[in-house]
Amino acid sequence: MTALTTWSASDPTTTTGSTVDRPEIESVLRALGFRLERWPLAPGLAPDAPAEDVLAAYRDLIEGLVSAEGFVEVDVAALHPTGQPAFAATAAAARAKFLAEHTHADDEVRFFAAGRGVFYLHTRDEARGEEVHAVLCEAGDLLFVPAGTTHWFDMGTEPSFTAVRFFRDPEGWVGDFTGSDLATQFPDFDALAAQADAVTAGA
Ligand SMILES: [Fe+2]
Repeated sequence: MTALTTWSASDPTTTTGSTVDRPEIESVLRALGFRLERWPLAPGLAPDAPAEDVLAAYRDLIEGLVSAEGFVEVDVAALHPTGQPAFAATAAAARAKFLAEHTHADDEVRFFAAGRGVFYLHTRDEARGEEVHAVLCEAGDLLFVPAGTTHWFDMGTEPSFTAVRFFRDPEGWVGDFTGSDLATQFPDFDALAAQADAVTAGA
């Protein structure tokens, strides 16, 4: 279940907003300059399907978005447990890559075809002040994070996701790290995913 959790950036211990209400999540994010949309899941596609199958399954939606937004490259980033001991090290290295606060010169646009991940958006809004918004994305979610947004991404200690990535400038796809330790102060993917699972179980 997609979830949005909000804190003041200066107080990671006090949640100021928490919702799994889809229209509310989309509306809060829209007001802050982000876009969260939902694509229907391709039937019969295995969670760990190879990249070419993922791209084929969503071809029409992907082509529509590429032509509407002017993306120049699309690829698939995926990580799923293999059951092999080596997976732990692979997962930890992948997780560490964008776990600290950073920005990009390009928009970060991701469609989750399978699994989950949390985008933490560090925003500065005149009315709302400085906040951190954790967006727990699940399969079917398409999230747009505009270029220049301070953010980080957590795939958790046991990553399992397949994400289609859209690029305007694949050459410029690097993280520009802010040096802030903000990311270490907020509940991580594992904590937020457990909270969302508890809500789902209680529903
Ligand atoms: Fe990023």
